[in-house]
Amino acid sequence: MGAGDSTMGPVIILILMSVLYSGAVSLRSEAYFNETAELPCQFSNSQNLSLNELVIFWQDQEKLVLYEHYLGKENFNNVNSKYKHRTSFDHNNWTLRLHRAQIKDEGVYQCIIHHKRPTGLVSIHQKDSELSLFANFTQPEIVQMSNITGKFGINLTCSSGQGYPKAMTMYFLVKLENSTELEYDCNMQTSQNNGTELYNVSISKYFPFPDGMSNMTIFCVLKTKAMKSEERELRSKPFCRVPNHPVPVTHQPFWIIIASLISVIFSAGVVYFAWKKKKKQRAVLTNKESTKTEKEKNEGTGQREKIQVPERNDKEVQCT
Ligand SMILES: *[C@@H]1O[C@H](CO)[C@@H](O)[C@H](O)[C@H]1NC(C)=O
Ligand SMILES: *[C@@H]1O[C@H](CO)[C@@H](O)[C@H](O)[C@H]1NC(C)=O
Ligand SMILES: *[C@@H]1O[C@H](CO)[C@@H](O)[C@H](O)[C@H]1NC(C)=O
Ligand SMILES: *[C@@H]1O[C@H](CO)[C@@H](O)[C@H](O)[C@H]1NC(C)=O
Ligand SMILES: *[C@@H]1O[C@H](CO)[C@@H](O)[C@H](O)[C@H]1NC(C)=O
Ligand SMILES: *[C@@H]1O[C@H](CO)[C@@H](O)[C@H](O)[C@H]1NC(C)=O
Ligand SMILES: *[C@@H]1O[C@H](CO)[C@@H](O)[C@H](O)[C@H]1NC(C)=O
Ligand SMILES: *[C@@H]1O[C@H](CO)[C@@H](O)[C@H](O)[C@H]1NC(C)=O
Ligand SMILES: *[C@@H]1O[C@H](CO)[C@@H](O)[C@H](O)[C@H]1NC(C)=O
Ligand SMILES: *[C@@H]1O[C@H](CO)[C@@H](O)[C@H](O)[C@H]1NC(C)=O
Repeated sequence: MGAGDSTMGPVIILILMSVLYSGAVSLRSEAYFNETAELPCQFSNSQNLSLNELVIFWQDQEKLVLYEHYLGKENFNNVNSKYKHRTSFDHNNWTLRLHRAQIKDEGVYQCIIHHKRPTGLVSIHQKDSELSLFANFTQPEIVQMSNITGKFGINLTCSSGQGYPKAMTMYFLVKLENSTELEYDCNMQTSQNNGTELYNVSISKYFPFPDGMSNMTIFCVLKTKAMKSEERELRSKPFCRVPNHPVPVTHQPFWIIIASLISVIFSAGVVYFAWKKKKKQRAVLTNKESTKTEKEKNEGTGQREKIQVPERNDKEVQCT
């Protein structure tokens, strides 16, 4: 057994090393922008070597050193300035944490372990890992471009931002009253922030009203790449467009207040008048008449108010 072990050990290590050095086994690592990334080393330490006899370091694809643990002590002399104060080494699972990961940090990293032997330092382990970064796009937001509510249509822009990697597609989804759904593909405009390298996206479209009568609910949909090769779909709040009413929108709130005031004053006057002249038979008749006309007026404003609700929506647009 003992003899078998002593010959088998190096053979296994050789096979392991040839597999590892070939680069075929490359690990993938994913992190959110500005959060902590993990760069694994996957060192099994089958020989139970102590940190005191090992030199462990991580380097990027330009061979700049991120971190070095030299014979039991952290050594910052070789660490490149862009990685200073950004790393921490987890002894338990041989993982290097890279804090405040930036988009620029995407790339391939190498973990290298040397063993100090009487003959000198011998490389015993090497592992590549590829780091990818992600940032969640904000919820898409639909904005009406002009305050002028067109009679025949509206111009809408939808935008989202602070995302990474590049968004896949963005489109408008229109739901009609008869639950027909229409997709409007648009030319997606992409811009990249110089500093953070995050992306902003937007689309714009003119929506003609089919007949001026039907309601439309418009969503904006953004499809992005997410971690673990998944796709994610983000949806804006619905933008509701309800048919126009002939009364000009801008005067309505003021108009309502005036109308309410007039009717309140008028009603008070009528009630007072009625109360004062209650005993007289002739007055009752008048009272009945005026109450009747007043009631009619109230009904009239009530109806207008009801119609005004969709009208206001038409103007403000966002519905829940
Ligand atoms: C990154 O995170 C730090 C807090 O950890 C915060 O102060 C900073 O504003 C963030 N930077 C960006 C670009 O989001
Ligand atoms: C590894 O070595 C340490 C001392 O360096 C010892 O305490 C520990 O028990 C060993 N573990 C194994 C699994 O041999
Ligand atoms: C390493 O261990 C820490 C906890 O100590 C854990 O959060 C992390 O996920 C581990 N990383 C790997 C690559 O196993
Ligand atoms: C990104 O979005 C996913 C899914 O909604 C969520 O689980 C994750 O916590 C978000 N990450 C950040 C950094 O906002
Ligand atoms: C549209 O109206 C809002 C206030 O309701 C105003 O802040 C904005 O400047 C107006 N935009 C245009 C293009 O007139
Ligand atoms: C919508 O935008 C187009 C071009 O930008 C413009 O010609 C048109 O008048 C706009 N319509 C409305 C209702 O704002
Ligand atoms: C990207 O969008 C954010 C808001 O989401 C905005 O503050 C920023 O100015 C935009 N950047 C560019 C380059 O358009
Ligand atoms: C729904 O309405 C639209 C236009 O109003 C029409 O083109 C479409 O055929 C209708 N769909 C159904 C299923 O009725
Ligand atoms: C982005 O950075 C480049 C140089 O790195 C500079 O020439 C350009 O003006 C910058 N653009 C913006 C919008 O800041
Ligand atoms: C349009 O929507 C409004 C509010 O959701 C609703 O009151 C109205 O009845 C709808 N119009 C039609 C023609 O269905």
